[in-house]
Amino acid sequence: MLKCVVILPAFFLLGAVPFLMRGSSATPQAAAFKVPPDAASKVNPVKPTPEGLAHAKKMWGYDCAMCHGANGDGKGDMAVESKFTMKDYQDPAALKDMTDGELFYIIQKGKGDNMPPEGDRAKPDDIWNMVSLVRSFAKK
Ligand code: HEC
Repeated sequence: MLKCVVILPAFFLLGAVPFLMRGSSATPQAAAFKVPPDAASKVNPVKPTPEGLAHAKKMWGYDCAMCHGANGDGKGDMAVESKFTMKDYQDPAALKDMTDGELFYIIQKGKGDNMPPEGDRAKPDDIWNMVSLVRSFAKK
């Protein structure tokens, strides 16, 4: 009887090993994320207008603020609760090394497990307006 008590948990522990290994192999994949060079070099073709930015702000409120914060500080409820690592877009240094094309690509296609893609929900012009909006959060 005592043997059962020892052996059964051992089986469960061994059974968990493949799952644990699968979990750890996902990390290098995420680190390899890269925006294709042709997408990264795209220049924002949509001039920011008050109307375009207002529309982007509305979509931001629905789709983005819960993580990135209403004002882009990265302190949205969901991001805080889930302990996501977020950039503070109010800091002008936060996005200085990223091109508009990279921001567009990430908004459209998503990134990693936590940044969801807009996909077909937003037209390309709407996404370019979101790129302008994201840039506009930086404090001068
Ligand atoms: C569920 C939380 C969540 C939502 C919703 C979300 N994001 Fe993100 N976003 C993230 C996280 C986390 C990252 C960082 C991903 C990484 O670097 O691995 C990110 C990254 C980004 C980036 C790349 C720059 C950076 O901060 O690293 C942009 C641009 C962006 N998000 C814009 C948006 C826009 C626009 C929306 C709404 C359409 C949105 N996000 C919705 C969590 C979210």
